[in-house]
Amino acid sequence: MKVAEKSPNMNQPSPFKREPEGRKRPHHSPLFMHLNEYVINMKMTNKICLITGATSGIGKETAIALAKMGATVVFTSRDRKRGETAKAEIIKLSGNKNVDVMACDLSSFASIKDFSEKFKKKYKHCHILINNAGVWEKKRGLSKDGVELTFATNHLGPFLLTNLLLDHITASAPARIINVSSGLHASRTMNFEDLEGKKRYNGMKAYGQSKLANILFTKYLADRLKDSGVTVNTLSPGLTYTGLFRNASAFTKWFMRRIAKKPVEGAQTVIFLASSSEVANITGKYLSNKKIKDSSEESNDMEIAKRLWEISENYVRKYLD
Ligand SMILES: NC(=O)c1ccc[n+]([C@@H]2O[C@H](COP(=O)([O-])OP(=O)(O)OC[C@H]3O[C@@H](n4cnc5c(N)ncnc54)[C@H](OP(=O)(O)O)[C@@H]3O)[C@@H](O)[C@H]2O)c1
Repeated sequence: MKVAEKSPNMNQPSPFKREPEGRKRPHHSPLFMHLNEYVINMKMTNKICLITGATSGIGKETAIALAKMGATVVFTSRDRKRGETAKAEIIKLSGNKNVDVMACDLSSFASIKDFSEKFKKKYKHCHILINNAGVWEKKRGLSKDGVELTFATNHLGPFLLTNLLLDHITASAPARIINVSSGLHASRTMNFEDLEGKKRYNGMKAYGQSKLANILFTKYLADRLKDSGVTVNTLSPGLTYTGLFRNASAFTKWFMRRIAKKPVEGAQTVIFLASSSEVANITGKYLSNKKIKDSSEESNDMEIAKRLWEISENYVRKYLD
């Protein structure tokens, strides 16, 4: 038998076409899932969940799952049309109409500020914030604020958004903040001398560093929010075939299609952290496959976390008030 015939992922729809993904897959339909969801539904009704970047991949699967559990799901999109398409799909697949899409470009400080003000006016609470939106930029690009795009979108964006919503989240306690990191954090260190890759840029290094920053941010924030009723955790979804690899080579896409998880599988630890009572009192942890795991030594260094926090504050200071 050819290896390809054995692969469980051969029939995955392409995430690059931004086409509806969930309907044909069995994960949304077996009876045990419905029974399981029915039990959890009780807990998620009345919860307002904010997810960044749910137009595709892990964010969209998370939105579908939380909406199925009865939560009010608000997600951000930087593109109106893609946002509306995803919203219609999430409503259709979850049967829950309490799904809202709001404009926000996570790479732009002004857009994040504008969004956070609109969100706070529209919603009295934020029980669960999932910082999911992320990019992997092969070539070095700049955000509207002139910051390297990966660092801006993957770290500074969630840093600013979380800080702007913090009072709102704390007032909604018990509440949870979830930052989607990656196992690739472990291959990098924070290069404070050249955080934005001005001297030398490498897409993989920039991505790994931004994902390390997600963990350092999580640990530092969890410490600050101790005893506030707000938990802060981070996770690695594992290698997942999503739009993240939109700009990858044809070979990488071909390979990914065969070895990687489906988006619904990659979303499971995010959904677990957002909805399970098992992690209600867990904070400052890194998870993979729904289990607490050790992250890299550097990601646990609170001196480095403090330094990153202070540098990040300097970047966004103008927008923090
Ligand atoms: N896939 C993996 O193997 C893997 C592994 C480890 C960690 N992760 C992490 O998982 C998270 C989700 O990624 P994914 O794999 O599901 O990829 P994806 O399918 O490309 O989803 C990324 C989401 O982020 C949004 N986004 C990107 N840049 C944005 C911006 N500037 N402003 C607002 N939204 C923006 C995208 O929106 P648009 O539709 O506008 O592009 C999309 O909804 C990321 O943080 C990623 O680093 C993924």
